[in-house]
Amino acid sequence: MSSCPAIPFATDLLVHPEVVAFFDEATNTISYIVKDPNSSACAVIDSVMDFDYASGRIAYEGADKIIAHIRANGWSLEWLIETHVHADHLSAAPYIQTKLGGKLGIGDQITVVQDTFGKIFNEGTEFERNGSQFDRLFADGDSYQIGTMTVHTLFTPGHTPADMVHVVGDAAFVGDTLFMPDGGSARADFPGGDARTLYRSIQRLLQLPDAMRLFMCHDYGPNGRDIRWETTVSEQRDHNIHVGSGTDEDSFVAMREARDATLAMPKLIIPSLQVNMRAGQLPPKDEDGKTFLKVPVNGL
Ligand SMILES: [Fe+2]
Repeated sequence: MSSCPAIPFATDLLVHPEVVAFFDEATNTISYIVKDPNSSACAVIDSVMDFDYASGRIAYEGADKIIAHIRANGWSLEWLIETHVHADHLSAAPYIQTKLGGKLGIGDQITVVQDTFGKIFNEGTEFERNGSQFDRLFADGDSYQIGTMTVHTLFTPGHTPADMVHVVGDAAFVGDTLFMPDGGSARADFPGGDARTLYRSIQRLLQLPDAMRLFMCHDYGPNGRDIRWETTVSEQRDHNIHVGSGTDEDSFVAMREARDATLAMPKLIIPSLQVNMRAGQLPPKDEDGKTFLKVPVNGL
């Protein structure tokens, strides 16, 4: 049995957003500016805060490059999008929002993630688990505007319970639903992740038109190749090493679970979750005005 709901919106490959990619070497994350060709409007997807865990220091060199690019072109930032609650890097969305404005959005199942990690980090009742830290929560099939372009959201859980793919014209920002064809797929073993659910989400995503451009959130340059982040639906369907050329659900689940069992936790998972579940805000200051992150011993 396989449940793979249809794409809940019409696509329009004639709309061709301008996409500017920024690669973060420390975390292998790709952030994007998505720009409306018919206006000055743009959005930023999956920005990265620089965080040195050993020293506890944060910085915004990467985010400043994105801000500088938007300012230099005279663009106006309308949205800051998180495809999901990342476990490998901290979001810089609130920092960019302070400098350029725009609304911060994520999938509405963020509430499930907040509930899970609110408990793991013992955050108490002052940490709200209703997504209120974000400006907008997207449900499956929702839409919003970047200037004249309409963006549609596609719910693709599995890697986490709250992943959302954002589709605009001939471009789709897939978050960690897929990696490049030679990278396969993202892990599905974080709390709330599920390999079978991920397989079904990928099948759903691959119902998008063949020529749709797909933009990845991560690339690790497998087998020593250069970093890449853009592919198409048809390339994924034909060549993805985990789900391509008709791999069935049970084979994918067996492969994914066996592989996940061998993976170490991402270096920044503990700080990332505490910050990203708060929409990129650091935890509240203590009574002396200092900011701390917790390490749950044997809690993850
Ligand atoms: Fe992720």
